[in-house]
Amino acid sequence: MSKFPPTFQPEQVLIAPSILSADFAQLGQELQRLEAAGADWVHVDVMDGMFVPNLTLGPPIIQALRPHSSLPFDVHLMIEQPDRYLADFRDAGADVITVHAEACPHLHRTLSEIRRLGCKAGVSLNPSTPVQVLENVLDQLDLVLVMSVNPGFGGQSFIPHSLHKLAQVKALIGDRPIHLEVDGGVTPQNAEAVRAAGANVLVAGSAVFKSADLSAAITALRR
Ligand code: DX5
Ligand code: ZN
Repeated sequence: MSKFPPTFQPEQVLIAPSILSADFAQLGQELQRLEAAGADWVHVDVMDGMFVPNLTLGPPIIQALRPHSSLPFDVHLMIEQPDRYLADFRDAGADVITVHAEACPHLHRTLSEIRRLGCKAGVSLNPSTPVQVLENVLDQLDLVLVMSVNPGFGGQSFIPHSLHKLAQVKALIGDRPIHLEVDGGVTPQNAEAVRAAGANVLVAGSAVFKSADLSAAITALRR
């Protein structure tokens, strides 16, 4: 099992590389490389070909990867009707399970169920989704994931309006122990701006895996 940090320290920046950009033919070794390079979490992008126009991986692959890393698995579900699979992702070794608000008509119930299963509960918002959907579930949340691209693919450009969105979510969160994560087009060039807007967890796919030196890429994001 992984060691999920028991304490919440918003001032500490966490780097969560997305394995969507890793070499899928050797994911086990890629996880070991990430851990050696100083990553904090492993971001796992799950796509169902329905909620987003792409397919990736599911619980069996996450379960196979679990022994290859002691880092928390931050599982981002870009799937419709995620309630059907929450227990499977928990059993596979997910530490954080993040669902999309747009895919959850009963968001309060879904988030409560994720916690009941023993995982940290996250909710993600597409770029066009207003932050107000969070207002009535703040007490059920451990993490908010602001999408800074339209989900579905790695390697897209950061949508500048996301900085405003992050600041709005940060204001809603206030002093609550809720991680604010940003995902999509995050690079060393905009890392400082997303931090300033309130994000404390930075997801990065291309910026990490397209670099020849994973450790240098992670350090550059953290600075
Ligand atoms: C997009 C995924 C992201 C993506 C990030 O749908 O949720 O996690 O892989 O990749 P980059 O950093 O390349 O935008
Ligand atoms: Zn993601």
